[in-house]
Amino acid sequence: MTKAADRKNAHLDLARGVDAQTAHGNGFDRVVLSHNALPECDLDAIDLTCRFLGKRLTMPLMIGAMTGGTDRADEINLALAKAAQKAGIALAVGSQRASIENQRDQHQLRKIAPDIPIIANLGGVQLARPDGLKMAQDAVAMLEADAIAIHLNPLQEAAQPEGDRNWHGVEDAIGQLVQSQTCPVIIKEVGAGITKDVAMRLDALGVRYIDVAGLGGTNWTRIETLRHQNGDNPLMTPFLDWGISTFDALIDLQSDRPESRLNARLIASGGIRHGLDAAKGLWLGADMIAAAGHFLRAVEDGDGQISPDHLDQSIELWRQQMQLALFLTGSKDIQSFRAADGHIRD
Ligand SMILES: Cc1cc2nc3c(=O)[nH]c(=O)nc-3n(C[C@H](O)[C@H](O)[C@H](O)COP(=O)(O)O)c2cc1C
Repeated sequence: MTKAADRKNAHLDLARGVDAQTAHGNGFDRVVLSHNALPECDLDAIDLTCRFLGKRLTMPLMIGAMTGGTDRADEINLALAKAAQKAGIALAVGSQRASIENQRDQHQLRKIAPDIPIIANLGGVQLARPDGLKMAQDAVAMLEADAIAIHLNPLQEAAQPEGDRNWHGVEDAIGQLVQSQTCPVIIKEVGAGITKDVAMRLDALGVRYIDVAGLGGTNWTRIETLRHQNGDNPLMTPFLDWGISTFDALIDLQSDRPESRLNARLIASGGIRHGLDAAKGLWLGADMIAAAGHFLRAVEDGDGQISPDHLDQSIELWRQQMQLALFLTGSKDIQSFRAADGHIRD
């Protein structure tokens, strides 16, 4: 097995464990949606449908970018694609760098999931390399993708002994990708969040979606530390919970002031635990919700076997929880839910 394949498998194993999680959560427990004892709507008729990247979804949910490029990773992706197509939700794949470099075909995913948005993925540092734009275009073509997500992960790279340390030129490369009009561009973190300042810079480049991917769930400092130093890396210890919580990032990125209002739409992710969190993400202003770690734990059972039924049930449970959140606030659809009563607890 190559080093990259080893790393991917280790990530899959470690990301499933409790030690890979940020200790203090995503901040969403501060959001209190007001209970409506007179909802005047039908729980069975709550409408979660929405459009995303030109396609209709049954609810604003995306399986977050995770994996690809090894046998096990590809098998997981196929299972995720089947479940996403069946449920009518979006699917993001993990970095396609390994697949492109090793010429591993991912066309199968599009065949399995012809109707849903599929989002390609590449790292910001890879994009900034001389062949980065070509690589991004290959990643999109390979999946007939509806958009490409570029992940920004300086903390994760710094925590990896073999990680990329030079982040010069990433902003320019993102601008060139947008200009190339290959497809809509999504920029995401991987669990440490995005600030308003960074979001404004991305917005100025014409990025279509910003996925905050905040602190609160999968924690790469912890995972990389576990992978290399058995959990003990004096350099990274003070940084174990570095980052911006998903809640703080979403609040920060909203603005009432016209001069700092973003054109880019928001995706809420990072430690989304259930359908109520997903609903809170919408209430906090996101158009779309993504979750990675949760669905990784759902797709494989305790013995590492793919478990399609468990995954289907898990997505269905989130649907019902989101519907319930809308119902209990007296909201018949997402639009009315955004205006539902609620407050932020100190
Ligand atoms: C096993 C695993 C692999 C991941 N690989 C990628 C990746 O290749 N590209 C990427 O953009 N994000 C990747 N992520 C980050 C997720 O997309 C997401 O931003 C992060 O895990 C936070 O969301 P969560 O708390 O719901 O897991 C990965 C996450 C997991 C769990």
